[in-house]
Amino acid sequence: MTTSDYQFLPPLLPEEFEALKTSIAERGVDVPIIVDQDGNVIDGYHRERACDELGIYCPREIRHFDNETDKLELILSLNCRRRQLNRKQKRSVIEAYLLRDPQIADNFLAEIIGGISKNTVAAVRGELEGTCQIDKFDVLRGRDGKQRPVQYKKIVANTQKEVDAAKKVIGDLPDSSAGKLLNVVTARREVETEKRRQDPYDFYPTPRGATEALLRVEQFSKEVWEPACGEGAISDVLKQAGYAVDSSDIVNRGYGQVENFLTTERRATDIITNPPYRQGDEFVRKALNITTRRVAMLFQLSFLTSEKRRAILSESCLKKIYVFEDRVSLYKGGSEYRGNGQLGYAWFIWEHGYSGEPTISWINSRLAGAMLRPIEDTLTTNSSADRGPSQDESVDSHSNDLIRELCIHIWDADDMDALMDSNRIVSEWAQLEGISLSLAERLVKELPDEVRRLLDNGLPPAA
Ligand SMILES: C[S@@+](CC[C@H](N)C(=O)[O-])C[C@H]1O[C@@H](n2cnc3c(N)ncnc32)[C@H](O)[C@@H]1O
Repeated sequence: MTTSDYQFLPPLLPEEFEALKTSIAERGVDVPIIVDQDGNVIDGYHRERACDELGIYCPREIRHFDNETDKLELILSLNCRRRQLNRKQKRSVIEAYLLRDPQIADNFLAEIIGGISKNTVAAVRGELEGTCQIDKFDVLRGRDGKQRPVQYKKIVANTQKEVDAAKKVIGDLPDSSAGKLLNVVTARREVETEKRRQDPYDFYPTPRGATEALLRVEQFSKEVWEPACGEGAISDVLKQAGYAVDSSDIVNRGYGQVENFLTTERRATDIITNPPYRQGDEFVRKALNITTRRVAMLFQLSFLTSEKRRAILSESCLKKIYVFEDRVSLYKGGSEYRGNGQLGYAWFIWEHGYSGEPTISWINSRLAGAMLRPIEDTLTTNSSADRGPSQDESVDSHSNDLIRELCIHIWDADDMDALMDSNRIVSEWAQLEGISLSLAERLVKELPDEVRRLLDNGLPPAA
C-alpha cells in the first residue's frame, strides 16, 4: 500500500486545516506524525502537509508494523478519537475501512470508531457485499486478532409465504439470536420478546377486525372511553361506528390526551380498551372502580389461567368472553406480519350488576364490513343485548354465519397455497353446507372485499 491508501478518513475542512497550520506556525508540531517502516504516513497527513506549506520539517516517529491491519486499526482509533465525525462521515469511514480490511468483525470496528453500533457496521457491510465490492466471509477477525465464525441471524423457510415472513422479521431479530437457525414462528416470538423488553409500555395496536368483531356482538353507551388508546386503532373503529370516544394514553403517540389511567380520578360509563398486558389486572380493577356500566378489554386467552387473577375473573361481574376463532395477530407497533397469530385472544366483557357465570362465544376478526350492532341507548334499562334476537336479526345472523363459514373455507384454500379455482371452491362449499349453488353465489357477493379479492385472483369467479 502507498501513503494515499491510508488516507481514508474525510479530509479536514479548509478552515480546520488553516487553524492547524496557524497553530503549527505558532507552537510547532505537538505530536510527531507516524510513518511505517516503508515511509508511508500512517497518521499525521494534515500535519505533514501544513509543515510542507510552512517550509518546516515535520517530526516523525518510525514504527514497525507486522501487518497491514495493525496500521489500519491504528489510523482509525487515533483519528476517530481525535475528531468529531457526524453519522454520515462515520458511515463513509466504515465503508472506506471495510474496503481495505473486510475481515474485521462488526463489533470490533464499531468499538474502534466509537459512537456507533455493530448493526451500523453490519448494514454498511451488507451494502458492500450486495454490490460485490467486498466478499462475504464466514470467519471474521475480532479484537484479540483471533478469527471467529460469523454468527449470522438465520431463519429457515419451507414455503414462499414463510420466505416473505422471514424477510420481514429477520432485521428485527435480537443479537442473542445470531448463530441459531430459527423457524418463522420462533423468530417472530424472539422479535416480540425483544420489543416487549425494550418498550415498557407494551404498545401493541389492535387490528381493525378485532374491534369490528366486538361491535358485531356487543353494544355500548354512546359515550365510551379508550384509556390506553395507543395510536387510536380501537378509537378510530369506534368513532366510525358512531360512538363519541374519549381517548387517552400514558405515552403521547399523537392520539388523544396524555394520561396515566391507573392514577386518573375521572369516571366513565363504558370503557373499551386493549390494555398493556403486563398491567392487565390493574387495568381491570381500575376500570371496574370508575365505570358505571360496562368494561370491554382485549386479552390473550392465557389471561384466564392465573391463580392470582381468580378474584378478578370469578368474583367480579365478568359476563362474557368472546374468543377469536381466527387467531387474531397483534404485533408490536410498526411491525406487522401477515398470517395467523400464535396466541389466542378474547374480548372480556364486564357488566356492572351482572352476577351469573360468564359465558363463552366465538367471534371472527376477518369478517370486515359485516353488520355492526347499533349503539346502545344509555337511557334504556334493559340493554337490547339481553333481549332475544328479532326475526330480522336471526335471518341476518344466519347469513352472517354462512358468510363467515365461506370466508374460512376460502382462507383454508388460500393457506394451502393451491391455485384458487373459485367455481370449485364455491360449489364444494355449497355442498358441504347443504345450500343451493344460487344461494352460495349470492353470498359470494356479500363477502368482505379482501376475501373476494382472494377468490378473484383465482380462476374466473362463480357466475
Ligand atoms: C396493547 S397497547 C394497545 C393500544 C391501543 N389500545 C390499541 O388497541 O391499539 C397498550 C397501550 O397502553 C398504554 N399504556 C400503558 N400503561 C398505561 C397507563 N398506565 N395508562 C394509560 N395508558 C397506558 C401504552 O402506551 C400502549 O399504547
